[in-house]
Amino acid sequence: MDQLVIGQTLAFAGDPFAEGPAAARHSARGAVLIRSGRIAATGEADALRAAHPQAAVTDMGNALLSAGFIDAHVHYPQTGIIASWGKRLIDWLNSYTFPEEMRFEDPAYAAEIAGRYFDLALAHGTTSMCSYATIHPASVDAFFAAAQARGMRALAGKTCMDRNAPEGLRDTPQSAYDDSRRLLEQWHGVDRLSYVITPRFSPTSTPEQLMMLGQLWREHPDCLMQTHLSEQTDEIEWVKSLFPQARDYLDTYEAQGLLAEGAVYGHAIHLTARERDRLREAGASLVHCPTSNTFIGSGIFDMAGLVTTGLRIGLATDTGGGSSFSMLRTMAAAYELAQLRGTALHPSQLWWLATVGSARALRIEDKVGNLAVGMEADLVAIDLGSTPAIAQRSARAGDLWEALFPTIMMGDDRAVAGVWIGGKRMG
Ligand code: GUN
Ligand code: ZN
Repeated sequence: MDQLVIGQTLAFAGDPFAEGPAAARHSARGAVLIRSGRIAATGEADALRAAHPQAAVTDMGNALLSAGFIDAHVHYPQTGIIASWGKRLIDWLNSYTFPEEMRFEDPAYAAEIAGRYFDLALAHGTTSMCSYATIHPASVDAFFAAAQARGMRALAGKTCMDRNAPEGLRDTPQSAYDDSRRLLEQWHGVDRLSYVITPRFSPTSTPEQLMMLGQLWREHPDCLMQTHLSEQTDEIEWVKSLFPQARDYLDTYEAQGLLAEGAVYGHAIHLTARERDRLREAGASLVHCPTSNTFIGSGIFDMAGLVTTGLRIGLATDTGGGSSFSMLRTMAAAYELAQLRGTALHPSQLWWLATVGSARALRIEDKVGNLAVGMEADLVAIDLGSTPAIAQRSARAGDLWEALFPTIMMGDDRAVAGVWIGGKRMG
């Protein structure tokens, strides 16, 4: 049966970084018609109601209906260690991350955390994500099984590491290739799931492992490949010492066939001119993880300089290096970091990054990330007055952006008034 969800609606007809806020489409009393899990129509509520009198109506009142948030870089296995104190990247990995990821050797633990992670993501209005698993194949199975049970569009891969990680958390070039290939064949394209080839980052992979994963990617070019790039200066120095032949950090991937369309690099903060040029020429995607960049002390992503180059840029929590599950909090952190570089990102740009931008970075923008006919019906309804502090500020707003910005800056899961996956209400 058709469903009609009514509220304020926010969609994008263009890119607000190119066109400004005029790229957005807002209706103060709009609606989304859902049929067979997809968006069948969008428009004014009264007109859609009259045209589809048999549709089941859900009236969200003054809440803002949008495409669900897309978290383009997350480590679901780090759910349990989010907000761990006092370390920078390499120490943080060794002190908190690796011991926790070791626990995923137990498939029951992996399933428990995957379920917990998806429940948290949905409660925060995140309807799709691209995750790293651990080196354990069962951690990938746990992630995809939990996404599949909820009907979600989700992407992930086995994290590959064959050096500089503790015993028990290392694979080999051959086992990384074999396990990744088997998981890819098992999950890629099943329901709404996609496999992502996932070397963790150059410090934890030998050139041989990177080469094997480059080979796997050439054999399956319709998969994405995700990894980390130039997050902290200490890490970049370490990469230099591990790969003395490489021109720069990106070259450690490029030399092994891990730079092409469909490559998704997390962080990409400290880039050289050559790296920027090659990333653009290759059609790669970058993912900005602002709460992680402040929490682990990494640096400030050059949003203004990179977003206009044609590179696909997504937004992400980077849970648990990031300090929040909320894409609202993540937008706020992106705003604050851009301010430190002298740029005020407009609310339309922040919202676009968390929806269309992340979908483009993951090359799923024809399926999710916007309210448009034919897209999969993954929606959020956002209460623009979810706490007294937010409500008293949005009450005096003169337009949508002024009404929305307090929720971007101060909102969390309390702002999520509804979530739909493939047209099914999840919360
Ligand atoms: N670089 C390599 N692994 C990780 C990780 O798990 N989190 C972050 N933030 N950076 C990384
Ligand atoms: Zn990461």
